[in-house]
Amino acid sequence: MNVTQEQLKLKVEQATVAAFGAELAGTDVMLVSTNNPKFGDYQANLALPLAKKLKQQPRAVAQAIVDKLDVSDICEAPEIAGPGFINLRLKTEYLEAQLSAIQADERLGVPISQHPKREIVDFSSPNIAKEMHVGHLRSTIIGDSIARILEFKGHDVLRLNHVGDWGTQFGMLITYLREVYPEALTTANALDIGDLVDFYKKAKARFDADEKFQEIARSEVVRLQAGAEDTTHAWKLLCEQSRKEFQIIYDLLDINLTERGESFYNPYLKAVVEDLEKAGLLEESDGAKVVFLEGFTNKEGKPLPLIVQKTDGGYNYATTDLAALRQRIQKEGAKRLIYVTDAGQANHFAGVFQVARRAEWIPDDVEIVHVPFGLVLGEDGKKFKTRSGDTVRLRDLLDEAVTRSRNDLETRLKESGNNETEEFIANTSKVVGISAVKYADLSQNRTTDYKFSFDRMLSLKGNTAPYMLYAYARVKSIGREGNIDFSKFGADAKILLREESEFTLAKHILQLGEVINTVEQELLPNRLCEYLYDLSDKYNKFYENCPVLKSEEPVRTSRLALCDLTARTLKLGLSLLGIQVLERM
Ligand code: ARG
Repeated sequence: MNVTQEQLKLKVEQATVAAFGAELAGTDVMLVSTNNPKFGDYQANLALPLAKKLKQQPRAVAQAIVDKLDVSDICEAPEIAGPGFINLRLKTEYLEAQLSAIQADERLGVPISQHPKREIVDFSSPNIAKEMHVGHLRSTIIGDSIARILEFKGHDVLRLNHVGDWGTQFGMLITYLREVYPEALTTANALDIGDLVDFYKKAKARFDADEKFQEIARSEVVRLQAGAEDTTHAWKLLCEQSRKEFQIIYDLLDINLTERGESFYNPYLKAVVEDLEKAGLLEESDGAKVVFLEGFTNKEGKPLPLIVQKTDGGYNYATTDLAALRQRIQKEGAKRLIYVTDAGQANHFAGVFQVARRAEWIPDDVEIVHVPFGLVLGEDGKKFKTRSGDTVRLRDLLDEAVTRSRNDLETRLKESGNNETEEFIANTSKVVGISAVKYADLSQNRTTDYKFSFDRMLSLKGNTAPYMLYAYARVKSIGREGNIDFSKFGADAKILLREESEFTLAKHILQLGEVINTVEQELLPNRLCEYLYDLSDKYNKFYENCPVLKSEEPVRTSRLALCDLTARTLKLGLSLLGIQVLERM
């Protein structure tokens, strides 16, 4: 709801009270934006249900409200339509004034949240010594955009990378490390293990083939848990190596994250189990300590357990998440905990949240949300793989996006006979390639599966990053053509709305705040993508209908100011998706 809507709502409510008495205070006036300009910009639809309640004619009820309604500072005279809808049309001067108010504002009129709070976004979170796969890429892109939007709204956001840096697999990895790089455990220096994923595979093969190896691996787990110096050193080397690999991806994607892996919560695990015991929730099942979940049953209809301590006394993924949840609420003071993972983990989180709730670890003012997303599929609709059937390495994938975008650009340059510097070509291809991958992901409703297609995401047509970047660059080219310095284009560039397409564009620009509020609540960045795509569309219609540089003053300045506001809205909106704009492309 934007400022205009809020004001109108209040005014209609006051008029209703003035017409029918104080007991109607707080009535929902059912204010909606219309999608047909014939009915104005907003409609208040309360007269119909109210008429039933008051046993009067709906049109008469609407008339009585309108008689008491003074919206003359915002709207033209209200009209009653159909059975009793109250149509409200924003005044031109009002819209013009709103636009000039945002012109001088870097935030384009989007207010800071009235209740800024500490929020934690847990995203990306790959596993040490394993491949960072396309699922992690989705989490990274979606999580980053959510964090950017919350930060923009003034929240105190902690971006946490809950990396999988603990677990029994380290016994195997460390044992193998001792075998192949004995020197690594004694030198203080970091070492280059090379491809860690390959290392993992080889270690696994050794583990599976040799019982003696398995035994040593198990003893390494015990040594690691006990904090033995050499084992811990080996563990750190492995983490460090993975971290470097992950950082390459984060640098490419411009992602900021605080690493706080599973191991961070080790000191808190024991207390989780103890406190669940105290809360009377803990039960024994086949030697493991579990909490039976309400509403979750297996095929035989038996309640499903959430295991918090395994038969061998070890803790697991769920125990760690319970500890993390408590730490985030108690020590970090977070009021909203957001977890961005694939939908396959929905049950895990539902279980963890339920147990935490039943243990009364979640205060009333704390909100806990799992933000799930669908699978990444290949163009054939099957699991995303390389042609030879291997999993796709993220680095290769991002490199390919950049290479393809470079090829497209070079072809375009050849066709147009233009020359550009290598620096320009390299930068443009990088921005377009990376943005294409991000935007393709974000513009989907995240809950659906998504088909990864380089051709589609790099296309200049449709709801794609290149299309959006192009729209931005085009506005900027008008500025260059007319020698306009938009940065000096202060609030004094007077905006005059005359043509239909100018109104449509102007109203859309003014809705940015509303869209951002929706994303802030629903955590669906695709809403922002839709808004920006519509914006380019409305801008194009305006540009087709309204000459800019060739028109006479004062219209020329007004239209340039609309161009400038469009570009700034695109730039701001895209930045919240983690996408950088290009002045030309
Ligand atoms: N490391 C996990 C994985 O790769 C994701 C962790 C998500 N965050 C969490 N708090 N469980 O599937």
